Amino acid sequence: MTEINRMEDPIIPTSVEDVTLINPEIQECPFPTYDLLREEAPVFKDPVTGMFVVTRYDELRRVALDYDNFSNHRHSNDPEMHTPSQQIAHKLFLTKGWVPGKSLAARDDPDHKQMRSLFDDAFRPKRIAEIEGDVQKLAYDLIDDFIADQECDYVQQYAVPLPLFIICRQMGAKDEDVWQIKKWTDAWIKGGTIGLDEEGVIWATEMEIQAQHYFQAIFEKLRVQPDDTLLSDLVNNEVPGWGRTLSDSELHAEMMQDTFVGGSETTTNAMSAGIMLLDKNPAVWQKLRNDPDKYLNTFVEEVVRLESPVQGLTRLAKNDVEIDGVRIPKGSVIDIRYGAGNRDPRHFSCPHEVDIERKNAASHLGFSTGTHYCLGAPLARRELYWGFKAFIDRIDSFRVVPEKNNLRHLPNYSLRILKELHIEFTPK
Ligand code: HEM
Repeated sequence: MTEINRMEDPIIPTSVEDVTLINPEIQECPFPTYDLLREEAPVFKDPVTGMFVVTRYDELRRVALDYDNFSNHRHSNDPEMHTPSQQIAHKLFLTKGWVPGKSLAARDDPDHKQMRSLFDDAFRPKRIAEIEGDVQKLAYDLIDDFIADQECDYVQQYAVPLPLFIICRQMGAKDEDVWQIKKWTDAWIKGGTIGLDEEGVIWATEMEIQAQHYFQAIFEKLRVQPDDTLLSDLVNNEVPGWGRTLSDSELHAEMMQDTFVGGSETTTNAMSAGIMLLDKNPAVWQKLRNDPDKYLNTFVEEVVRLESPVQGLTRLAKNDVEIDGVRIPKGSVIDIRYGAGNRDPRHFSCPHEVDIERKNAASHLGFSTGTHYCLGAPLARRELYWGFKAFIDRIDSFRVVPEKNNLRHLPNYSLRILKELHIEFTPK
């Protein structure tokens, strides 16, 4: 049984000539645009960014798995290659903080594989299983804090704190610092806005430097007193093959991008998207509540597939290459649009529908594929599972309250961020 994931008045371009993915109106609901690109220009050179946008499922996989032709090493550490904004940020990091090193996600194998094995060890299944009890308890505790009110802002009271508290605890931060850390991650996301002015760059960099000083104290403490957090392993264990532990600059690069933003903002947005989907698809909500054990895992996959909290990321062409007859010169940036591939009708039948019986739901590319496959996917899946399970267990019925909400997403090229989601509900 499926229902349509309805969209409110999305922009539907009639021609690829009208498309640029930096248009905030298209970002608000990019799916009709993806449909057009997939059919008419599956490898589309965006006229404003100059990036080659890939939208079909098979081609996305091909790019993500072709390490000879496509590189993740796109952030040059050479200050001479920096854009004016990067130069401003670089100077501030040099004088006041730490110039972030190359992150895990920005490395190529074999360098990436060596560093990844340190992370894989820290995020090993046994470790995630140990954290799961904390995730479960937190989910019910958070709901119990607002259950008597029969209303809440689902984003601020539930979807933000659940993954953020978990990752903070695993990264050595204190519970009471969680909202300060949220301000830093919000600033980091804003700092990545394409075309941000100088004032904005300075503000975002200063915020990141504040965060660096906070985390530097934690690194130094963990070096003297290791504990059972994930960060303790990342700080103290040697990278296999490197003969050394990560430097401060390398650790700082991981904190914002890969763990806090990559690890909490994404899960938050998936949790919010899930409730929007259930609000629009009441029959799915009923079916899920009647038998969560049977349907919940597939629902989680469908949320990540349909919403794709990471809409797309980039690769750099190492050689002149051709995809679908389009020549891509060496040095070009390729935007692999996971959000578009995840609704490709060549791979998913009725791709815009949420189908909690879909057999191939988990083959989505929402966590990417290949060597850069999301490190946190097992944790994210458990957070989403318990996030929705506690909601089903505690709440009998709910509705999104249109008059209380601004349901527009924050304009962002890669992430889909909902700032608020006021709901009213009847507790069980
Ligand atoms: C629903 C939640 C999440 C989504 C949709 C998501 C999505 C992704 C995607 C698409 C990539 C691939 C990057 C690429 O292609 O270059 C990725 C990589 C990564 N993710 Fe996630 N992620 C989520 C949750 C998490 C969590 C909870 C953590 C950690 C606590 C995390 C940490 C990372 C890291 C470290 C990488 C880089 C892996 C590498 O390059 O080897 N993510 N994620």
